[in-house]
Amino acid sequence: MPHKLLGLSGALRSGSTNRLLLREAARLYGAADYVEADLNLPLYDGDLESESGLPGGVNTLVAQIAEADALLISTPEYNAGVTGVLKNALDWISRHSEKPMVGKPTALMSAAAGRAGGVRAQTMLRSCLVAFRPRIALGSEFGLANSSNEFDADGRLTSEHYTASLTALMEALKDDVGRSQ
Ligand SMILES: Cc1cc2nc3c(=O)[nH]c(=O)nc-3n(C[C@H](O)[C@H](O)[C@H](O)COP(=O)(O)O)c2cc1C
Repeated sequence: MPHKLLGLSGALRSGSTNRLLLREAARLYGAADYVEADLNLPLYDGDLESESGLPGGVNTLVAQIAEADALLISTPEYNAGVTGVLKNALDWISRHSEKPMVGKPTALMSAAAGRAGGVRAQTMLRSCLVAFRPRIALGSEFGLANSSNEFDADGRLTSEHYTASLTALMEALKDDVGRSQ
């Protein structure tokens, strides 16, 4: 059975380089079924939760995480941190009775306009994820700098250096999936 990969992008826009990066990571992982989660969720609001429970999109997201063999999370850097979109999704997930990320093999990456490739956002993301206890794949931190100029028309990374580094991260993730099955 091909592994099931779920992508979480910290950017919503259709042309997002983080979404491109997630798809490229899934391709480099090898034979796998890749699905991207919809993080276009309402803003977390305790009143909404009290009155209506968790939104349907949150329940779907939690079920997708639970079913996935591995997660790919990519975030842009917004003002030196993780995006509100991704943090909001994590806040909703934390309100669910299931804890779908515990022990889940997970690869973190970022794509940003700046020279550091969004690594400050990744650092913050790692901190936010501590309570969710995912199994984060070890490897060099993957931050794609100047991201709007790093993909060709087919959505492939053009740089050999980045491709090799992302492939290594996907190998580490695959090893973690193998160990957790
Ligand atoms: C609100 C906002 C804040 C940003 N702050 C940063 C930043 O701190 N560092 C950085 O490298 N890029 C910053 N950028 C530029 C993003 O890195 C760039 O728009 C990136 O392509 C977004 O990812 P996407 O292509 O997936 O949408 C910011 C962009 C926005 C919209």
